[in-house]
Amino acid sequence: MDLALLFSSFANRLNGRKITQQRMLYEALRDAILEGLLPAATRLPATRVLANELRIARNSAMFAYEQLAEEGFLHVSRRGSIVASVGAQTKSKPVERRPQSAQLSRRIDGLRREQPTHPIAVSFRPGLPALDEFPMTQWRAAIARAWRKLEATDLGYANSAGVPELRQALVDYLKVSRGVRCDIDQVFITDGTQTSLDLCARILADAGDRVWVEDPGYAGARAAFKGANLSLVSIPVDADGIAPARSHWTQSPPRLIYVTPSHQYPLGSVLSIARRMQIIEEARAHGAWVIEDDYDSEFRHTGSPFAAMQGLAGDTPVIYLGTFSKTMFPALRIGFMVVPPGLSREFARTLGEISRQGRAADQLALADFMRSGAYTRHLRRMRGLYSRRRVALQVALEQHFGELLTVSGGAGGMHLTARLNAPLRDVDVCSAARSEGLWAVPVSEFCLADTNIAAYNGLVLGYASVPVNEADAAVEKLARIVRSMLP
Ligand SMILES: Cc1ncc(COP(=O)(O)O)c(C=O)c1O
Repeated sequence: MDLALLFSSFANRLNGRKITQQRMLYEALRDAILEGLLPAATRLPATRVLANELRIARNSAMFAYEQLAEEGFLHVSRRGSIVASVGAQTKSKPVERRPQSAQLSRRIDGLRREQPTHPIAVSFRPGLPALDEFPMTQWRAAIARAWRKLEATDLGYANSAGVPELRQALVDYLKVSRGVRCDIDQVFITDGTQTSLDLCARILADAGDRVWVEDPGYAGARAAFKGANLSLVSIPVDADGIAPARSHWTQSPPRLIYVTPSHQYPLGSVLSIARRMQIIEEARAHGAWVIEDDYDSEFRHTGSPFAAMQGLAGDTPVIYLGTFSKTMFPALRIGFMVVPPGLSREFARTLGEISRQGRAADQLALADFMRSGAYTRHLRRMRGLYSRRRVALQVALEQHFGELLTVSGGAGGMHLTARLNAPLRDVDVCSAARSEGLWAVPVSEFCLADTNIAAYNGLVLGYASVPVNEADAAVEKLARIVRSMLP
């Protein structure tokens, strides 16, 4: 092998990348060894000879050989520098390669949903808050105060349950606003509900255990449960929320029951008190845990909200999950779990092993935000804003769609659900809308059972991030798209 040629052709391939001669020689030889151009057992020239030939300093050649030897590409001894066998030399010994399969684990396969990859003109994305209304200046100040408070020791791994200031602020807030009964030991800060679901699934259930999910229901919950290898059981939903039949309890008793009682996601019903009590009683009888995802109860537009299931009775078998993704902003990635007293020690121990906590400044800033009243003020303002945005969307839907849609789920939250009364598939409508810069979500995408995928046909339309003065034009555009698709 002509090493001078190898060296100069490598130099030409550098495309202006500036590296030392020693580095250049090292990389040229390493690549040639890996590609099989310099097969195992090839003797390289002595460094003095090579340096002369390449017109480089001898030290450069020596250092390049030394590095290659350290990394196992060369054996250097008194007998000279010999190329080692590195197992990937395709030229000298062709190795049959099987194509690397992009097949994911069976647990995870089938979870890929389309996510926006380009800017969207109007996002009806459910759950997306009004980001441009967030009180950035106040938050910046809270973050700055938090960093001033921190000491060097706070830069290490934090307590696996989260910072006590935030946990205590949550105990006080949840008691008053959601009727949640807990003390600080029961509260665990997480990176958001997705992480809470993932942790609950892994800590409380074994592979193959049954988890009941609302159908239609939250895809994020299904993803977490599938990821933990649980067996998902589809439970229907009606106007009173999740509606398990007697046969579900007798034939498919659950280990976990996932519910969104305050505002069923995505249909919007509120779980009736009778069903709440029944689910708590049956869960107790079956040794099951109820996972209560209280994701948007802060935004109630009509009537007063039901208190959380967790606080309906003493020591309910309920793990209460909350998130700041809607009330603050999704990128904050702070949520929390309130576990029953009997689980708090085990959770503390286990979380210390399977997860790591940090970001004390964010948590302290959030505690400060809650304590100072800034959080409540922000919520009050957003409640008013979202109420107005909801009305604007409802009016526009009525005006531009008329009988084509039946709208429901408007009492609370940040989205409406609309049944499509036309011979069109919701997925096709949403795909056409997306190509025109509107992001709505098909209801059928929330379904698990095939029968439901066929039965539910509609649009989930978030309104929290759609300004009042943009709603009409966006809905008119959406209606035009739908009408153009009608047979
Ligand atoms: C039903 C439900 N739960 C929870 C969340 C929030 O999850 P996270 O805290 O992971 O952002 C969402 C977000 O859209 C949701 O729709």
